[in-house]
Amino acid sequence: MNTKHTKQRVEFGDFQTPPSLAREVCALLADTDLSPSSILEPTCGKGSFLDAAIRAFPDAISARGFDYNPDHVQVAQTMLANHPNARVECGDFFSVDWESVLCKLPDPILVVGNPPWVTNATVGSLGGANLPQKTNADGLRGIEAITGRSNFDISEWMLRKTMGWLEGRIGVMAVLCKTSVARKVLHFSWSENAQIESAKVYRINAIEEFGASVDACLLIVRFNPGSRSVECDVYETLHAAIPSTRFGMWKNRIVADVEAFDRLSSLCSDGLVGWRSGVKHDCSRVFEISRKQNTLVNGLGEQVSIEADVVYPLLKSSDVVHGRGPRKYLFLPQRSMAESPLDLEHSAPLAWKYLLSNSDMLNNRRSSIYRKRPPFSIFGIGPYSLTAWKVAISGLYKELRFSKIGPHDGQPIVFDDTCYLFPCDSEEECDVLYELVTSSAATDFWLSLVFWDSKRPITAKLLNLLDLAALAKNSTSGHLFRGD
Ligand SMILES: C[S@@+](CC[C@H](N)C(=O)[O-])C[C@H]1O[C@@H](n2cnc3c(N)ncnc32)[C@H](O)[C@@H]1O
Repeated sequence: MNTKHTKQRVEFGDFQTPPSLAREVCALLADTDLSPSSILEPTCGKGSFLDAAIRAFPDAISARGFDYNPDHVQVAQTMLANHPNARVECGDFFSVDWESVLCKLPDPILVVGNPPWVTNATVGSLGGANLPQKTNADGLRGIEAITGRSNFDISEWMLRKTMGWLEGRIGVMAVLCKTSVARKVLHFSWSENAQIESAKVYRINAIEEFGASVDACLLIVRFNPGSRSVECDVYETLHAAIPSTRFGMWKNRIVADVEAFDRLSSLCSDGLVGWRSGVKHDCSRVFEISRKQNTLVNGLGEQVSIEADVVYPLLKSSDVVHGRGPRKYLFLPQRSMAESPLDLEHSAPLAWKYLLSNSDMLNNRRSSIYRKRPPFSIFGIGPYSLTAWKVAISGLYKELRFSKIGPHDGQPIVFDDTCYLFPCDSEEECDVLYELVTSSAATDFWLSLVFWDSKRPITAKLLNLLDLAALAKNSTSGHLFRGD
């Protein structure tokens, strides 16, 4: 395939569904009591899904397909030429007059498909235009708000739109998408009180089916006026007869395992800020320093001569996970957000000189968060960063493994921003906290909330949902604990 075609394929998220998978999905749908009068596929590509749906539901009186790509449309038209009720045409999802299409399609309506697998960031980087119109997102709710995000899946936008079409109608949406997108569109619809009767997610092997390494699924959502279900059964494969788990919405929050969470909801807090992320600096070559014999060397291989009291032992995610001690040190140009690196000019002149000599690199840090701060600033720093004792966890690894961290050579250890930490005033407090967060009740609580297939399942927000005071109270009374 030439570069132009590859670029177009990427911009249009063009991964055609293998006909065997389309047939499997439609057979699964036909195995239920579903009997659609009309079928719609808004991005039908070469038509394998539409064809499989028409075959699975021969009584449907109308089937419509649209796609942006005229070559695909032609292939689909040829394939469906023998179906008098089927019509496929060229259309851009973002500009088709869907209202007039939908009003001609009788209930029950089945919307099938496999919307494009691409993010707005990728489309942008290709200089492409396959995007919904951008709306200024501040304060906006709903579908318009998505376009304000720096990175979103085009399919999320399309699926939200599709679910909007089905609101107040009798119908089913059955689509292939990323599992994270399925959760996002369900969460949004649930929080908007959508009239959803049921939702199911069947995991599919995207590597096998599409050669794409993503967590993907078949999402089936049934709409029925008056229904208000806020739960979704998860099946491990398309052939699984019983769900492995059920996620859902609890007080506007999405929880991974509804049953487990119900049992532990008394441990759920709102708005605690005990867990913090480590230091964010975005310039490891300047701020991270190694000790070689008796000299300090930065990431550029240069010898560093700065005051000892601005340098702290550092742990990164892999150190925390592997139980290793500090291999590097972190230069902290400030010890809290109230301090400024500019103060170093007087308090630590060598460190100040070091910052000045690296100012080009530091001033070029890309993140916009640095723009409104004094030069050379870092983030995620405060008194909590410098307590001698902490409980820490890596946010990069997909496991709930906590570590008790004490001082190193008499100095508090600091963490990079891939780690989360809970500061403690003493070793005794750290012991108690460690016992609590590694207890079965705490583990079960977090497991009921965490989606392991997310990019970064463990976050400070997730960790802070556990009400440690409630947990401690329950542990003394013996409630909620599985015998530990
Ligand atoms: C993942 S493929 C799936 C194709 C087909 N639904 C299937 O299941 O085989 C996504 C399809 O979306 C089409 N597409 C991408 N952006 C579109 C847009 N803005 N409007 C209409 N179709 C679009 C692509 O041409 C491609 O055929």
